[in-house]
Amino acid sequence: MATKVASIAEDDALRLDPIASVGPLPRHVAVIMDGNGRWARARGLPRTEGHRQGVDAVRRTVRAAGDRGIPYLTLFGFSSENWSRPQPEVSFLMDLLRGYIRRDLDELRDAGVRVSIIGERGGLPDDINALIENAESTTRNNGRLHLQVAFNYGGRDEIVRAARRLAADVAKGQTHPEAVSEQSFARYLDTGDLPEPDLLIRTSGEQRISNFLLWQCAYSEFVFIDDLWPDFDGVSLDRALTIYGGRSRRFGGVTAVEP
Ligand code: IPE
Ligand code: IPE
Ligand code: MG
Repeated sequence: MATKVASIAEDDALRLDPIASVGPLPRHVAVIMDGNGRWARARGLPRTEGHRQGVDAVRRTVRAAGDRGIPYLTLFGFSSENWSRPQPEVSFLMDLLRGYIRRDLDELRDAGVRVSIIGERGGLPDDINALIENAESTTRNNGRLHLQVAFNYGGRDEIVRAARRLAADVAKGQTHPEAVSEQSFARYLDTGDLPEPDLLIRTSGEQRISNFLLWQCAYSEFVFIDDLWPDFDGVSLDRALTIYGGRSRRFGGVTAVEP
């Protein structure tokens, strides 16, 4: 039996998935969308075709998360290490982000989705940064679902950039070392005040974190599923939610119903 835990707000704990009725829904789901290349290779297609199909899986997942009442969804789109891929593949992934924002922004806005991007902006082309800024400002007041896309994102890089900003504030006298706490440090991260992921899903059968949300996943539940990302859909999400619903989260403590 899943045990209700303090980190899940009362109203979230009571909101059950109408399809699976699996227990408390996660407030924040993060996904490492992996397996596009293998999906393509299995069909004799170029890796880029897997990425293209992966965008449809993104659309399905955003819709499914919204329909199920999940308030925060973070998708890992491009890691700080993905620059080491062949240049044409990197360019293709940049183009996919451009195309996704251009094509889907109006629909996302109308569906009440707030969009934000986490990662190192300095390394991205200017036109992509302009698209990102427009997407963020256009959807700033939306509250149905907060979609975070991690792009040019690395967990270590994020922590180093946060430490730099904090050090700069100390140098300016705006804070001092003794005032730094886990909570205050977390606000310097790209994710700011967002709740930490309750559930981290990785597709494609790989079981590693690949530098994703290192700080934020300290107590996330990990669900590794064999589906390749282009095949991911609402049914896959429900399966992961069911597994999550059966987990007992203890945060270092003990369950409320110990014998
Ligand atoms: C995930 O699929 C997409 C990105 C990392 C951008 P991959 O491209 O990593 O696919 P595999 O892991 O090679 O199958
Ligand atoms: C992680 O997948 C990055 C994204 C999903 C964007 P990778 O395919 O790059 O990770 P590794 O290389 O298998 O660890
Ligand atoms: Mg991969």
